[in-house]
Amino acid sequence: MSQHHSSTAQAYSKEVQFSEKTMTEFKNILAKYDSKRSALLPVLHLTQDEFGHLSDEAIVYVAKLMDLSPAQVLEVVSFYHMFHRHPVGQHHLQFCVTLSCWMNGSHQLMKSTCSRLGIRAGETTADGKFSVVGVECLGSCGSAPVVQVNETYYENLTPEKLNRLIASCKDGEPRQP
Ligand code: FES
Repeated sequence: MSQHHSSTAQAYSKEVQFSEKTMTEFKNILAKYDSKRSALLPVLHLTQDEFGHLSDEAIVYVAKLMDLSPAQVLEVVSFYHMFHRHPVGQHHLQFCVTLSCWMNGSHQLMKSTCSRLGIRAGETTADGKFSVVGVECLGSCGSAPVVQVNETYYENLTPEKLNRLIASCKDGEPRQP
């Protein structure tokens, strides 16, 4: 009974807490910076690595650790597109849909990717392998169209290159097509 109660409570309390290993890394990061505030970006990366995305609960947790308000943390999280507020797939495909990329067919590439994966933009496949979103300019307009998969850019995309990229993701490791 108590075990059932505790696992149910765990499922619904949405409490987040660093593992011991991550807490050690957190302390190591803090030691490298003069102020906690300047350590916020690396701490947010660490937090996202730990939890997969930055939920409201994770933001409150980081705010407490960093002596900041949740609003201050959220402001930074919202500014950078590499931070995810919701769960994303193992391969998170972020299609730039701003002008240069749009003019070079990024919408069409995103649309064909979505239909190939059976999801809509903003969704994640049922197996958790892929998610697709449209994002604002990735700052690489000279090599449009561009898709960012997790932290890596894939530029001058064509439908064929995109096919190869997705195939390599399916094989487990995205490669430059
Ligand atoms: S418009 Fe796509 S990278 Fe700038």
